[in-house]
Amino acid sequence: MGWVVPLLLFVLVGVYGEPQVPCVFIFSDSLSENGNNNNLPTLAKFNYKPYGIDFINGPTGRPTNSRNAVDILTQLLGFENFIPPFANTSGSDILKGVNYASAAAGIRPESGSNYVLREFGLRECLLVGLGLIGCTPHAKSTNGLNVSSPSCVEDVNAAVSMFNDKLKSLADQLNQRFSADSKYIFINSTEGARDLASGFAVPYDPCCLIQNNGLCVPDQMPCQNRSEYLFWDGFHTTDVVNKIIATATYNVLLSSMFNA
Ligand SMILES: *[C@@H]1O[C@H](CO)[C@@H](O)[C@H](O)[C@H]1NC(C)=O
Ligand SMILES: *[C@@H]1O[C@H](CO)[C@@H](O)[C@H](O)[C@H]1NC(C)=O
Ligand SMILES: *[C@@H]1O[C@H](CO)[C@@H](O)[C@H](O)[C@H]1NC(C)=O
Ligand SMILES: *[C@@H]1O[C@H](CO)[C@@H](O)[C@H](O)[C@H]1NC(C)=O
Repeated sequence: MGWVVPLLLFVLVGVYGEPQVPCVFIFSDSLSENGNNNNLPTLAKFNYKPYGIDFINGPTGRPTNSRNAVDILTQLLGFENFIPPFANTSGSDILKGVNYASAAAGIRPESGSNYVLREFGLRECLLVGLGLIGCTPHAKSTNGLNVSSPSCVEDVNAAVSMFNDKLKSLADQLNQRFSADSKYIFINSTEGARDLASGFAVPYDPCCLIQNNGLCVPDQMPCQNRSEYLFWDGFHTTDVVNKIIATATYNVLLSSMFNA
């Protein structure tokens, strides 16, 4: 189903300042979802408990226990508030950016954002590749593998790898074509992903009780010690893992900006 496909890309524009970039535009799938689907006719919603159990105001539509990686990345960049979901953006909100991420659904960038992108000049564009989808609890359980074991659905990971190779060559091509005014940075999300498991007491099982579709069963108590789990539900990672991902991404972005 559509929401299996994680973060595709997000866009950072602008020059240095406070925050370190003036605005962030996010184009992605469920990994960066922060509420766009709440009022859409789709099953890919995360606005019910136990999602958001560690978030200030409870479930918001983020597919994790607290923040997603883009939330943490924008905090690291110095933004006071999270980038609002497209569904909730109006007026001058757009000046700091918009989150178009939508699990499974078809939100498209509006002409408004194209205008802003041109006005400020696109500077840095992160193309974040797919992660190891074949290692998610949902992929494992639907393919008859033992969810608690380190085994993964390797043909799914082979497809991920093909996709990422193409995304990387797209980034290379874009860099050649637009070298004067923008930089495209490919981020390899599969790099080191398997090693991450060794840092977690529970590296394979999800923290919440999952339904057949991989999402949390509504209103069930999740695991208590959430920082010891890598997976939150059948697809998505916990806040602690999102922090690791965001920090790595931030470091790549910083080194790119300072080598401009
Ligand atoms: C959207 O705005 C409404 C009204 O301010 C608020 O209650 C809701 O939580 C917001 N949704 C998201 C996903 O931020
Ligand atoms: C699944 O894997 C875990 C961890 O390797 C193991 O302890 C457990 O016995 C396995 N379960 C089955 C049904 O094979
Ligand atoms: C991403 O990293 C993995 C693991 O190191 C590597 O096998 C793969 O070739 C890399 N993909 C790209 C597109 O660089
Ligand atoms: C998490 O908490 C449970 C219940 O307190 C405990 O049994 C378990 O050992 C803790 N650690 C892990 C990794 O599950």
